[in-house]
Amino acid sequence: MSKRKKVILAYSGGLDTSVAIRWLQEEYNAEVYAVTLDLGQGKDLEGVQQKALSVGAKEAFVFDVREEFIDEYVVPALWAGAVYERRYPLATALSRPLIAKYLVRVAEEQGADIIAHGCTGKGNDQVRIDVSVAALNPDLKVVAPARVWSFSREEEMEYASAHGIPVPVTVENPYSIDQNIWGRSIECGVLEDPWVEPPEEVYEWTRDPRRAPDEPAYLEIGFEEGFPKLLNGQYYSLVNLVEELNKLGGEHGFGRVDHLENRLVGIKSREIYECPAAFLLVEAYRDLENLVTPREVTHFKPVLEGKYSQMVYEGLWYSPLREALDAFMAKVADRVTGTVRIKLFKGSAQVVGRKSEFSLYDLGLATYDKGDMFDHQAAEGFIKLWGLPTRMSAVVNRKRTT
Ligand code: ARG
Repeated sequence: MSKRKKVILAYSGGLDTSVAIRWLQEEYNAEVYAVTLDLGQGKDLEGVQQKALSVGAKEAFVFDVREEFIDEYVVPALWAGAVYERRYPLATALSRPLIAKYLVRVAEEQGADIIAHGCTGKGNDQVRIDVSVAALNPDLKVVAPARVWSFSREEEMEYASAHGIPVPVTVENPYSIDQNIWGRSIECGVLEDPWVEPPEEVYEWTRDPRRAPDEPAYLEIGFEEGFPKLLNGQYYSLVNLVEELNKLGGEHGFGRVDHLENRLVGIKSREIYECPAAFLLVEAYRDLENLVTPREVTHFKPVLEGKYSQMVYEGLWYSPLREALDAFMAKVADRVTGTVRIKLFKGSAQVVGRKSEFSLYDLGLATYDKGDMFDHQAAEGFIKLWGLPTRMSAVVNRKRTT
Protein backbone atom coordinates (compact mmCIF):
# COMPACT_ATOMS: atom_id res chain seq x y z
CA MET A 1 0.00 0.00 0.00
CA SER A 2 1.37 3.42 -0.95
CA LYS A 3 2.08 5.85 1.86
CA ARG A 4 -0.75 8.31 2.44
CA LYS A 5 -0.09 11.85 1.32
CA LYS A 6 -0.12 14.62 3.87
CA VAL A 7 -2.08 17.80 3.18
CA ILE A 8 -1.87 20.94 5.31
CA LEU A 9 -5.20 22.76 5.20
CA ALA A 10 -5.97 26.35 6.26
CA TYR A 11 -9.03 25.65 8.36
CA SER A 12 -11.60 28.25 9.44
CA GLY A 13 -14.20 25.95 10.98
CA GLY A 14 -16.82 26.88 8.38
CA LEU A 15 -18.69 24.58 6.03
CA ASP A 16 -16.33 24.93 3.04
CA THR A 17 -13.14 24.01 4.84
CA SER A 18 -14.90 21.25 6.79
CA VAL A 19 -16.10 19.70 3.55
CA ALA A 20 -12.57 20.19 2.22
CA ILE A 21 -11.18 17.91 4.95
CA ARG A 22 -13.29 14.99 3.78
CA TRP A 23 -12.93 15.83 0.11
CA LEU A 24 -9.12 15.88 0.35
CA GLN A 25 -9.15 12.57 2.16
CA GLU A 26 -11.23 11.00 -0.60
CA GLU A 27 -9.72 12.65 -3.67
CA TYR A 28 -6.09 12.52 -2.62
CA ASN A 29 -6.17 9.63 -0.21
CA ALA A 30 -4.56 12.12 2.13
CA GLU A 31 -4.13 12.71 5.83
CA VAL A 32 -5.32 16.23 6.51
CA TYR A 33 -3.63 18.50 9.05
CA ALA A 34 -5.78 21.53 9.91
CA VAL A 35 -4.14 24.87 10.69
CA THR A 36 -6.09 27.75 12.23
CA LEU A 37 -4.63 31.10 13.23
CA ASP A 38 -5.88 33.40 15.93
CA LEU A 39 -5.74 36.78 14.21
CA GLY A 40 -8.13 38.39 16.64
CA GLN A 41 -11.23 37.25 14.74
CA GLY A 42 -12.93 36.59 18.07
CA LYS A 43 -14.05 33.04 17.34
CA ASP A 44 -13.93 30.09 19.74
CA LEU A 45 -10.83 28.48 18.27
CA GLU A 46 -10.84 25.54 20.64
CA GLY A 47 -14.22 24.70 19.19
CA VAL A 48 -12.78 25.08 15.70
CA GLN A 49 -9.94 22.72 16.58
CA GLN A 50 -12.38 20.14 17.98
CA LYS A 51 -14.50 20.42 14.88
CA ALA A 52 -11.52 19.78 12.59
CA LEU A 53 -10.74 16.61 14.52
CA SER A 54 -14.33 15.42 14.62
CA VAL A 55 -14.67 15.92 10.87
CA GLY A 56 -11.61 13.76 10.41
CA ALA A 57 -8.43 15.81 10.50
CA LYS A 58 -5.38 13.82 11.57
CA GLU A 59 -4.21 16.74 13.67
CA ALA A 60 -5.47 20.28 14.24
CA PHE A 61 -3.15 23.14 15.12
CA VAL A 62 -4.13 26.56 16.46
CA PHE A 63 -1.58 29.36 16.68
CA ASP A 64 -2.11 32.69 18.40
CA VAL A 65 -0.40 35.08 16.01
CA ARG A 66 -2.06 38.34 17.00
CA GLU A 67 1.17 39.95 18.12
CA GLU A 68 3.13 38.78 15.12
CA PHE A 69 0.36 39.99 12.83
CA ILE A 70 0.38 43.47 14.35
CA ASP A 71 4.17 43.79 14.65
CA GLU A 72 5.21 42.41 11.28
CA TYR A 73 2.26 43.07 8.98
CA VAL A 74 0.01 45.78 10.40
CA VAL A 75 2.67 48.20 11.62
CA PRO A 76 4.57 48.23 8.29
CA ALA A 77 1.23 48.77 6.53
CA LEU A 78 0.41 51.62 8.91
CA TRP A 79 3.76 53.26 8.19
CA ALA A 80 3.07 52.86 4.50
CA GLY A 81 -0.40 54.41 4.84
CA ALA A 82 -1.63 51.25 3.13
CA VAL A 83 -5.26 51.83 2.16
CA TYR A 84 -6.24 50.18 -1.14
CA GLU A 85 -8.13 52.51 -3.46
CA ARG A 86 -8.12 54.95 -0.53
CA ARG A 87 -10.97 52.99 1.05
CA TYR A 88 -9.76 49.61 2.29
CA PRO A 89 -7.08 49.26 4.99
CA LEU A 90 -6.30 45.73 3.74
CA ALA A 91 -7.18 43.73 6.86
CA THR A 92 -7.93 40.54 4.93
CA ALA A 93 -5.10 41.05 2.44
CA LEU A 94 -2.48 41.49 5.18
CA SER A 95 -3.45 38.29 6.95
CA ARG A 96 -2.97 35.99 3.96
CA PRO A 97 0.83 36.06 3.78
CA LEU A 98 0.96 35.25 7.50
CA ILE A 99 -1.47 32.36 7.05
CA ALA A 100 0.73 31.10 4.19
CA LYS A 101 3.79 31.36 6.42
CA TYR A 102 2.24 29.05 9.03
CA LEU A 103 0.95 26.61 6.42
CA VAL A 104 4.45 26.34 4.99
CA ARG A 105 5.98 25.95 8.43
CA VAL A 106 3.64 23.10 9.37
CA ALA A 107 4.14 21.48 5.95
CA GLU A 108 7.90 21.49 6.49
CA GLU A 109 7.58 20.15 10.04
CA GLN A 110 5.21 17.38 8.99
CA GLY A 111 7.04 16.51 5.80
CA ALA A 112 3.97 17.31 3.70
CA ASP A 113 4.18 18.44 0.14
CA ILE A 114 0.67 19.74 -0.43
CA ILE A 115 -1.01 22.82 1.01
CA ALA A 116 -4.75 23.43 0.73
CA HIS A 117 -7.08 26.33 1.40
CA GLY A 118 -10.77 27.10 1.06
CA CYS A 119 -10.57 30.05 -1.33
CA THR A 120 -12.68 30.12 -4.46
CA GLY A 121 -11.35 30.75 -7.95
CA LYS A 122 -12.83 34.24 -8.14
CA GLY A 123 -11.25 36.11 -5.30
CA ASN A 124 -7.99 37.77 -4.33
CA ASP A 125 -7.25 35.50 -1.40
CA GLN A 126 -6.38 32.45 -3.53
CA VAL A 127 -3.76 34.57 -5.30
CA ARG A 128 -2.33 35.87 -2.05
CA ILE A 129 -1.99 32.43 -0.48
CA ASP A 130 -0.73 30.64 -3.58
CA VAL A 131 1.87 33.30 -4.39
CA SER A 132 3.00 33.57 -0.77
CA VAL A 133 3.45 29.80 -0.52
CA ALA A 134 5.47 29.86 -3.75
CA ALA A 135 7.66 32.65 -2.34
CA LEU A 136 8.33 30.77 0.89
CA ASN A 137 8.75 27.27 -0.47
CA PRO A 138 8.50 26.81 -4.24
CA ASP A 139 8.51 23.02 -3.91
CA LEU A 140 5.12 22.91 -2.26
CA LYS A 141 2.01 22.29 -4.30
CA VAL A 142 -1.21 24.20 -3.54
CA VAL A 143 -4.67 22.70 -3.93
CA ALA A 144 -7.85 24.74 -3.54
CA PRO A 145 -10.72 22.22 -3.37
CA ALA A 146 -13.34 24.93 -4.03
CA ARG A 147 -11.56 25.68 -7.32
CA VAL A 148 -11.79 22.03 -8.28
CA TRP A 149 -15.09 20.65 -7.05
CA SER A 150 -18.17 21.94 -8.81
CA PHE A 151 -20.62 21.72 -5.92
CA SER A 152 -23.61 24.01 -5.84
CA ARG A 153 -24.56 25.15 -2.35
CA GLU A 154 -27.14 22.35 -2.12
CA GLU A 155 -24.71 19.70 -3.34
CA GLU A 156 -22.15 20.85 -0.81
CA MET A 157 -24.71 20.55 2.00
CA GLU A 158 -25.69 17.09 0.77
CA TYR A 159 -22.05 16.03 0.65
CA ALA A 160 -21.63 17.38 4.18
CA SER A 161 -24.58 15.54 5.68
CA ALA A 162 -23.65 12.34 3.87
CA HIS A 163 -20.21 12.59 5.49
CA GLY A 164 -21.38 13.45 8.98
CA ILE A 165 -20.23 17.06 8.80
CA PRO A 166 -22.44 19.38 10.86
CA VAL A 167 -24.55 21.51 8.52
CA PRO A 168 -25.93 24.80 9.83
CA VAL A 169 -29.59 24.16 10.67
CA THR A 170 -30.71 27.77 11.11
CA VAL A 171 -31.35 30.03 8.15
CA GLU A 172 -27.85 30.66 7.06
CA ASN A 173 -26.13 34.01 7.35
CA PRO A 174 -26.26 35.21 3.74
CA TYR A 175 -23.02 37.17 4.07
CA SER A 176 -19.44 36.15 3.54
CA ILE A 177 -17.37 37.59 6.34
CA ASP A 178 -13.68 37.71 7.02
CA GLN A 179 -12.38 39.44 10.08
CA ASN A 180 -9.27 40.02 12.12
CA ILE A 181 -8.01 42.62 14.53
CA TRP A 182 -7.34 45.13 11.68
CA GLY A 183 -10.86 45.01 10.28
CA ARG A 184 -13.96 43.23 9.15
CA SER A 185 -14.92 42.53 5.51
CA ILE A 186 -18.50 41.69 4.52
CA GLU A 187 -19.84 40.73 1.10
CA CYS A 188 -22.56 38.71 -0.71
CA GLY A 189 -26.32 38.54 -0.10
CA VAL A 190 -28.15 41.80 -0.83
CA LEU A 191 -24.82 43.60 -0.91
CA GLU A 192 -24.25 42.19 -4.39
CA ASP A 193 -26.59 44.88 -5.70
CA PRO A 194 -24.39 47.98 -5.50
CA TRP A 195 -27.47 50.22 -5.43
CA VAL A 196 -28.87 48.66 -2.26
CA GLU A 197 -27.94 50.37 0.98
CA PRO A 198 -26.26 47.92 3.36
CA PRO A 199 -28.80 46.81 5.94
CA GLU A 200 -27.90 47.62 9.53
CA GLU A 201 -27.53 43.89 10.28
CA VAL A 202 -24.25 43.62 8.33
CA TYR A 203 -22.48 45.77 10.89
CA GLU A 204 -21.16 44.19 14.04
CA TRP A 205 -18.31 46.37 15.21
CA THR A 206 -19.83 49.78 14.63
CA ARG A 207 -22.98 51.30 16.04
CA ASP A 208 -25.51 53.06 13.86
CA PRO A 209 -24.26 56.68 14.10
CA ARG A 210 -27.81 57.72 15.00
CA ARG A 211 -27.47 55.72 18.19
CA ALA A 212 -23.96 56.91 18.97
CA PRO A 213 -23.44 59.09 22.06
CA ASP A 214 -24.68 62.67 21.75
CA GLU A 215 -21.45 64.00 23.17
CA PRO A 216 -18.15 63.75 21.27
CA ALA A 217 -15.24 61.76 22.68
CA TYR A 218 -11.65 62.92 22.44
CA LEU A 219 -8.82 60.46 21.91
CA GLU A 220 -5.15 61.25 22.30
CA ILE A 221 -2.99 58.73 20.49
CA GLY A 222 0.71 58.87 21.38
CA PHE A 223 3.35 57.59 18.94
CA GLU A 224 7.00 56.78 19.63
CA GLU A 225 9.22 56.37 16.58
CA GLY A 226 6.20 55.43 14.54
CA PHE A 227 4.74 52.94 17.01
CA PRO A 228 1.36 53.80 18.49
CA LYS A 229 1.92 53.32 22.21
CA LEU A 230 -0.37 55.51 24.28
CA LEU A 231 -4.05 56.14 24.43
CA ASN A 232 -5.18 59.09 26.53
CA GLY A 233 -1.87 59.10 28.37
CA GLN A 234 -1.83 55.39 29.17
CA TYR A 235 0.55 52.81 27.71
CA TYR A 236 -0.98 49.86 25.87
CA SER A 237 0.43 46.85 24.07
CA LEU A 238 -0.13 47.22 20.33
CA VAL A 239 -2.73 44.45 20.29
CA ASN A 240 -4.66 46.02 23.17
CA LEU A 241 -4.42 49.49 21.69
CA VAL A 242 -5.90 48.32 18.40
CA GLU A 243 -8.67 46.45 20.23
CA GLU A 244 -9.46 49.50 22.32
CA LEU A 245 -9.60 51.78 19.28
CA ASN A 246 -11.92 49.35 17.51
CA LYS A 247 -14.19 49.50 20.53
CA LEU A 248 -14.16 53.28 20.99
CA GLY A 249 -14.45 54.07 17.29
CA GLY A 250 -17.24 51.52 16.91
CA GLU A 251 -19.21 52.99 19.82
CA HIS A 252 -19.22 56.31 18.01
CA GLY A 253 -20.31 54.73 14.73
CA PHE A 254 -16.97 55.36 13.08
CA GLY A 255 -15.17 53.07 10.63
CA ARG A 256 -17.77 51.98 8.06
CA VAL A 257 -16.94 51.84 4.37
CA ASP A 258 -19.03 50.87 1.38
CA HIS A 259 -16.63 50.18 -1.45
CA LEU A 260 -16.97 49.11 -5.05
CA GLU A 261 -13.61 47.46 -5.39
CA ASN A 262 -11.35 46.41 -8.26
CA ARG A 263 -10.23 42.84 -7.71
CA LEU A 264 -6.99 41.47 -9.04
CA VAL A 265 -8.86 38.87 -11.14
CA GLY A 266 -10.55 41.66 -13.08
CA ILE A 267 -13.94 41.74 -11.39
CA LYS A 268 -15.48 44.73 -9.70
CA SER A 269 -17.04 43.66 -6.42
CA ARG A 270 -18.90 45.38 -3.64
CA GLU A 271 -17.49 45.05 -0.15
CA ILE A 272 -18.45 46.58 3.17
CA TYR A 273 -15.72 47.20 5.71
CA GLU A 274 -15.70 48.02 9.39
CA CYS A 275 -12.27 49.13 10.51
CA PRO A 276 -12.44 51.78 13.23
CA ALA A 277 -8.93 51.24 14.61
CA ALA A 278 -7.28 51.03 11.21
CA PHE A 279 -8.77 54.32 10.03
CA LEU A 280 -8.06 56.07 13.33
CA LEU A 281 -4.44 54.98 13.33
CA VAL A 282 -3.82 55.65 9.64
CA GLU A 283 -5.31 59.15 9.96
CA ALA A 284 -3.45 59.92 13.17
CA TYR A 285 -0.18 58.61 11.77
CA ARG A 286 -0.53 60.54 8.53
CA ASP A 287 -1.24 63.75 10.39
CA LEU A 288 1.70 63.40 12.74
CA GLU A 289 4.01 62.37 9.93
CA ASN A 290 3.07 65.50 8.04
CA LEU A 291 3.99 67.57 11.08
CA VAL A 292 7.51 66.15 11.30
CA THR A 293 8.53 65.60 7.67
CA PRO A 294 9.73 68.25 5.23
CA ARG A 295 7.49 69.05 2.28
CA GLU A 296 9.43 66.89 -0.20
CA VAL A 297 8.90 63.78 1.91
CA THR A 298 5.25 64.60 2.55
CA HIS A 299 4.58 65.05 -1.15
CA PHE A 300 6.60 62.09 -2.41
CA LYS A 301 5.56 59.38 0.05
CA PRO A 302 2.01 58.90 -1.32
CA VAL A 303 3.50 57.73 -4.62
CA LEU A 304 5.12 54.84 -2.76
CA GLU A 305 2.05 54.35 -0.56
CA GLY A 306 -0.08 53.67 -3.62
CA LYS A 307 2.38 51.10 -4.89
CA TYR A 308 2.64 49.49 -1.46
CA SER A 309 -1.13 49.15 -1.06
CA GLN A 310 -1.43 47.65 -4.50
CA MET A 311 1.29 45.10 -3.80
CA VAL A 312 -0.34 44.02 -0.54
CA TYR A 313 -3.71 43.75 -2.26
CA GLU A 314 -2.28 41.83 -5.19
CA GLY A 315 -0.54 39.18 -3.12
CA LEU A 316 3.05 40.38 -3.49
CA TRP A 317 3.84 40.69 0.20
CA TYR A 318 6.90 38.46 -0.01
CA SER A 319 8.83 40.48 -2.55
CA PRO A 320 12.05 42.47 -2.69
CA LEU A 321 10.16 45.64 -3.62
CA ARG A 322 7.98 45.48 -0.53
CA GLU A 323 11.05 45.02 1.64
CA ALA A 324 12.77 47.98 0.01
CA LEU A 325 9.67 50.12 0.46
CA ASP A 326 9.53 49.06 4.12
CA ALA A 327 13.04 50.42 4.57
CA PHE A 328 11.90 53.79 3.21
CA MET A 329 8.81 53.82 5.45
CA ALA A 330 10.86 52.85 8.51
CA LYS A 331 13.26 55.72 7.87
CA VAL A 332 10.36 58.15 7.86
CA ALA A 333 8.83 56.53 10.95
CA ASP A 334 11.96 57.32 12.98
CA ARG A 335 10.70 60.83 13.61
CA VAL A 336 7.03 60.09 14.01
CA THR A 337 6.96 60.74 17.73
CA GLY A 338 4.25 62.84 19.32
CA THR A 339 0.55 62.99 20.04
CA VAL A 340 -2.52 63.36 17.87
CA ARG A 341 -5.87 64.45 19.20
CA ILE A 342 -8.98 63.07 17.53
CA LYS A 343 -12.60 63.97 18.01
CA LEU A 344 -15.09 61.13 17.57
CA PHE A 345 -18.65 62.12 16.98
CA LYS A 346 -21.59 60.28 15.41
CA GLY A 347 -19.76 58.40 12.71
CA SER A 348 -16.93 60.86 12.13
CA ALA A 349 -13.39 61.11 13.40
CA GLN A 350 -11.52 64.33 12.95
CA VAL A 351 -7.99 65.18 13.86
CA VAL A 352 -8.26 68.35 15.94
CA GLY A 353 -4.74 68.67 17.32
CA ARG A 354 -1.18 67.40 16.95
CA LYS A 355 2.16 68.00 18.66
CA SER A 356 5.69 66.62 18.48
CA GLU A 357 9.19 67.30 19.73
CA PHE A 358 10.22 67.04 16.05
CA SER A 359 7.52 69.40 14.83
CA LEU A 360 8.54 71.44 11.79
CA TYR A 361 5.72 73.86 12.41
CA ASP A 362 7.22 77.17 13.51
CA LEU A 363 4.86 79.71 15.00
CA GLY A 364 7.35 82.52 14.33
CA LEU A 365 7.15 81.70 10.62
CA ALA A 366 3.44 80.91 10.45
CA THR A 367 1.84 83.63 12.56
CA TYR A 368 -0.01 86.65 11.23
CA ASP A 369 0.20 88.24 14.67
CA LYS A 370 3.10 90.06 16.25
CA GLY A 371 6.20 87.96 16.65
CA ASP A 372 6.23 87.25 12.93
CA MET A 373 9.76 86.19 11.90
CA PHE A 374 9.08 85.52 8.23
CA ASP A 375 11.19 87.63 5.86
CA HIS A 376 8.50 89.38 3.81
CA GLN A 377 11.06 91.24 1.68
CA ALA A 378 12.67 87.99 0.60
CA ALA A 379 9.33 86.93 -0.88
CA GLU A 380 9.56 89.54 -3.60
CA GLY A 381 12.85 88.23 -5.03
CA PHE A 382 11.65 84.66 -4.65
CA ILE A 383 8.49 85.37 -6.64
CA LYS A 384 10.50 87.12 -9.37
CA LEU A 385 12.55 83.97 -10.02
CA TRP A 386 9.73 81.52 -9.37
CA GLY A 387 7.52 83.33 -11.89
CA LEU A 388 10.31 83.86 -14.42
CA PRO A 389 9.35 80.99 -16.77
CA THR A 390 5.68 82.06 -16.68
CA ARG A 391 6.61 85.67 -17.43
CA MET A 392 8.94 84.68 -20.29
CA SER A 393 6.36 82.52 -21.95
CA ALA A 394 3.66 85.20 -21.58
CA VAL A 395 5.94 87.80 -23.18
CA VAL A 396 6.75 85.54 -26.13
CA ASN A 397 3.09 84.49 -26.60
CA ARG A 398 1.96 88.09 -26.66
CA LYS A 399 4.56 88.96 -29.33
CA ARG A 400 3.37 86.09 -31.49
CA THR A 401 -0.28 86.99 -31.27
CA THR A 402 0.08 90.77 -31.79
N1 ARG B 1 -12.20 42.36 -0.68
C1 ARG B 1 -11.30 42.08 0.36
C2 ARG B 1 -9.98 41.62 -0.20
O1 ARG B 1 -9.90 41.20 -1.31
C3 ARG B 1 -11.83 41.11 1.38
C4 ARG B 1 -11.99 39.68 0.90
C5 ARG B 1 -12.64 38.75 1.87
N2 ARG B 1 -13.95 39.18 2.16
C6 ARG B 1 -14.98 38.47 2.61
N3 ARG B 1 -16.06 39.12 2.86
N4 ARG B 1 -14.94 37.18 2.76
O2 ARG B 1 -9.00 41.66 0.48
